[in-house]
Amino acid sequence: SNRIMLGPLVAAIDQGTSSTRFLVFNAKTAELLSHHQVEIKQSFPKEGWVEEDPKEILQSVYECMDRTCEKLTQLNIDISNIKAIGVTNQRETTLVWDKETGEPLYNAIVWLDLRTQSTVERLISKTPGRNKNHLKHKTGLPISTYFSAVKLRWLLDNVDEVAEAVVTHRAMFGTVDSWLIWCLTGGKSGGVHCTDVTNASRTMLFNIHTLDWDPELCKYFDIPMEILPKVRSSSEIYGLMVSPGSLTGIPISGCLGDQSAALVGQMCFQDGQAKNTYGTGCFLLRNTGAKPVMSDHGLLTTVAYKLGRDKPACYALEGSVAIAGAVVRWLKDNLGIIQTSTELEKLAASVGTSYGCYFVPAFSGLYAPYWEPSARGIICGLTQFTNRSHLAFAALEAVCFQTREILDAMNQDSGIPLTQLQVDGGMTSNRLLMQLQADILCIPVVKPSMPETTALGAAMAAGAAEGVSVWSLRPEDLSEVTSEKFEPQINPEGTRRFSKRRSSMPLTTVAVSLNMGE
Ligand code: G3P
Repeated sequence: SNRIMLGPLVAAIDQGTSSTRFLVFNAKTAELLSHHQVEIKQSFPKEGWVEEDPKEILQSVYECMDRTCEKLTQLNIDISNIKAIGVTNQRETTLVWDKETGEPLYNAIVWLDLRTQSTVERLISKTPGRNKNHLKHKTGLPISTYFSAVKLRWLLDNVDEVAEAVVTHRAMFGTVDSWLIWCLTGGKSGGVHCTDVTNASRTMLFNIHTLDWDPELCKYFDIPMEILPKVRSSSEIYGLMVSPGSLTGIPISGCLGDQSAALVGQMCFQDGQAKNTYGTGCFLLRNTGAKPVMSDHGLLTTVAYKLGRDKPACYALEGSVAIAGAVVRWLKDNLGIIQTSTELEKLAASVGTSYGCYFVPAFSGLYAPYWEPSARGIICGLTQFTNRSHLAFAALEAVCFQTREILDAMNQDSGIPLTQLQVDGGMTSNRLLMQLQADILCIPVVKPSMPETTALGAAMAAGAAEGVSVWSLRPEDLSEVTSEKFEPQINPEGTRRFSKRRSSMPLTTVAVSLNMGE
């Protein structure tokens, strides 16, 4: 065939909150050759609860792998050229399964879930000075419903099967990366129980300085350490694929939380480089190099990556926004004002203004920089004139304003303002959103033309692993990477749409005040 000269290929599983993807890249050029995507169901059994089915997650990975391999075969590309597979995933989402039966013992509790709100409030009230940052010196994180430790605590306290499995030494805890790697490397017949430093750094049981599970933190949350996976670097061979058939024997050799993977895929390897990914939520990470920098403005300190067992860890400051793409899904599924996500742009563009309508989609409380689990969403500024188009526009603005708050915090923490923002993720195909974002930040927004940066990062880590070594991490080798730039169309002192008044009174602050009755 004429494609036989392609050379080595590298693949990635991208298991996000809303969907799963499997993607195959040319290791020489980073060209995306084939991929498949499957949507994931979310269930909301009670108000504030968000769950997903671990088996459906696994099945979706198999389905994406099968379909992608079929497409490759149709393209005359030899599947045996795939030399490595990377895993990247929604972070914090918490699972416990039985290592003898291989069965999950409860649904996956998704990162957005709020069921631990009262636990979190109780934990904070017991700290000296009611300080939510009590564990930050070790974890880089505030005590919040967001992270895995409290979700795992809830499972141990409320699910008999989980408590029993702990007593009988059959319980395994993991985030989605651990669950998938364990299943794909053989599951109950010899699967590898591991995670990487980036995913571990989101559990609140992990010490980001020593890069290991922390006995004191485990004691604090009363978590038995024997159920935790082994922590590895983000780029090394964890095990070999046992199933499905066509991929058997390929090493799984990259593992990164999805936001870390996007940082790698965007080549943000230098101290000071940053990216913002618009997925279900929206996450701005800025590389701070070998040093973990603690934020004074409500940001998280997290492990960015560690690309090899003997390589140093790199850290990042992170601003996490819980709801970005999820607001589009809400407008579609809950209000029915659009039939498909892509309709939103047209609807919003038809009016080009929110007409004074504001939307704060604090569905899961507010994350950075507030960390206020009791905040709830509001839509305000409505008049007789307001229609669904204005609401659509306000929803897009909400995503941009939330990013603006994160960027302001990031600039204050680092003292060196970002001069442009690299972006990626599903929502970046919305050109109106990109232009609005540039206008609201007053800096250019730069989007790579290959939008699957998260998967690319995981594939790069997998291909660069010791013992695989088919990928170079030098940006200059990735000849196919091109980008598009959105320049701000109003000046920083602009008195029109995005006036000083607005940016000095952040919208989410209004929401917190309203919700807290201030
Ligand atoms: O921390 C949660 C994050 O990893 C989820 O990412 O892409 O599913 O919104 P995403």
